[in-house]
Amino acid sequence: MDEREFRRSGQHASVVGLGTWQLGADWGDVDAKDAEAVLEAAAESGVTFFDTADVYGDGRSEQTIATFLSTRPDLHVLVATKMGRRVEQIPENYVLDNFRAWNDRSRRNLGVDRVDLVQLHCPPTPVYSSDEVFDALDALVAEERIAAYGVSVETCAQALTAIARPNVASVQIILNPFRMKPLREVLPAAREAGVGIIARVPLASGLLSGRYTKDTVFAADDHRTFNRHGEAFDQGETFSGVDYASGVEAAAEFAALAPEGYTPAQTALRWIVQQPGVTTVIPGARSPEQARANAAAAKLPPLPKETLAAIDELYERRIKDQVEHRW
Ligand SMILES: NC(=O)c1ccc[n+]([C@@H]2O[C@H](COP(=O)([O-])OP(=O)(O)OC[C@H]3O[C@@H](n4cnc5c(N)ncnc54)[C@H](OP(=O)(O)O)[C@@H]3O)[C@@H](O)[C@H]2O)c1
Repeated sequence: MDEREFRRSGQHASVVGLGTWQLGADWGDVDAKDAEAVLEAAAESGVTFFDTADVYGDGRSEQTIATFLSTRPDLHVLVATKMGRRVEQIPENYVLDNFRAWNDRSRRNLGVDRVDLVQLHCPPTPVYSSDEVFDALDALVAEERIAAYGVSVETCAQALTAIARPNVASVQIILNPFRMKPLREVLPAAREAGVGIIARVPLASGLLSGRYTKDTVFAADDHRTFNRHGEAFDQGETFSGVDYASGVEAAAEFAALAPEGYTPAQTALRWIVQQPGVTTVIPGARSPEQARANAAAAKLPPLPKETLAAIDELYERRIKDQVEHRW
């Protein structure tokens, strides 16, 4: 699979990576054997970038990745984790001593001396404007605890503030056919600055697969049941912040736009991969079949102009007013 460079760190990632929130928690049950099979399927399909976090299953996702990679020394996978959401979400917690403790735990979970890439996990907005925070992250690099750092953001404004910091290697942001605002300013600014873009929630939590109906029931412990209105964390992380009922209708229209030979999910991934400035897209997968189908999107030809225009029109008509004022 093609790889792209995080220009500030010189690291590389496959254009389609793998999100591993599913291998921790919050998506109904995915048992240990299935979790390993998802990693295996992704790696065998050419994926060289795994995104995880210390909070996914409270470390289970990181540990599953470590176990898998320990059995496959032939693989070269860039592992990006995140830190900061195991404590109260206040700026005072974003200090060097805490960073060291959080990093120690991730290094143990991942079985490495140095983490490839660590991302602040959607911190409170004032954190992005704090020189001390970024000095502390630079200290982690100097101490060889991490090779590089980035941020995972909720809003375009946070992304732009982070991109202006000289040593931020990556910005992770929601980008998909139902979340287009980052195309306007964030992607051009990242390209200009050499900051890598990690596109998350690319399938709008599965909505863009076009498989759900208004009657679909998700498990009780799946955030698509319990976080539709932002009850547990930012509403934008669930169905990309789109109201479920109208989202299902818009997703049916989206699915009808998929060109022959592309599933709707692959159409969404392909749309993301071909946006200038995107480094990698990280669909989550709950089965090896999904991981393989998602990786295969990397090899599909670019979407034709008419499809792109129809996706734009759908977004303008059905989605934009729901999401642009918030994220
Ligand atoms: N704050 C943050 O930093 C943050 C927040 C959210 C996510 N993330 C990262 O981003 C990754 C991706 O986002 P996400 O997992 O939330 O959402 P996503 O990738 O948009 O959606 C994942 C869901 O889509 C469905 N799906 C996946 N592949 C499919 C395929 N080929 N065909 C049909 N359906 C498919 C599956 O759901 P079903 O099987 O149930 O249909 C899967 O659980 C996460 O895993 C995580 O690593 C980070």
